[in-house]
Amino acid sequence: RRVLVVNGPNLDLLGRREPAVYGTDTLADLVERCRRTAGELGLEVDARQSNHEGVLIDTVHEAMTDFAGVIINPGGYTHTSVALRDALAALPVPVVEVHLSNVHARESFRSHSYVSPVATAVIAGAGVTGYDLALRFLAEKVLRRT
Ligand code: DQA
Repeated sequence: RRVLVVNGPNLDLLGRREPAVYGTDTLADLVERCRRTAGELGLEVDARQSNHEGVLIDTVHEAMTDFAGVIINPGGYTHTSVALRDALAALPVPVVEVHLSNVHARESFRSHSYVSPVATAVIAGAGVTGYDLALRFLAEKVLRRT
């Protein structure tokens, strides 16, 4: 059972980028953590990151057939991208939207997400633990088919 973990723009800078907001773990640390957690849950993770909207959309399309679920942190595209939302809406598998920071406690433009209405679940403000929580949720859904 493979889960697609997609990180959007600027998340390649994780650990160096506003560490007070996003934490000190790097993207490599985050991916390693996801792999470990997924292994414990009987899942496999395929992790991707891109700064490009079209590449993210192509990546999401892979989950039309090849994945049991998607975890996505769309970064700034959360607040701007109808096209990414449409790609996620097309998926036949559960989608978990994750944000490291609590987007509702920050600038008001971050409170609106184009993705949330088409996500199965939304996790914000739990830092890198949010990805663990998302994996646990998908494990329940995918392995128990609830
Ligand atoms: C983010 C929150 C977004 O508002 C921001 O543009 C990001 C990261 C988060 O993980 O907290 O790039 O998605």
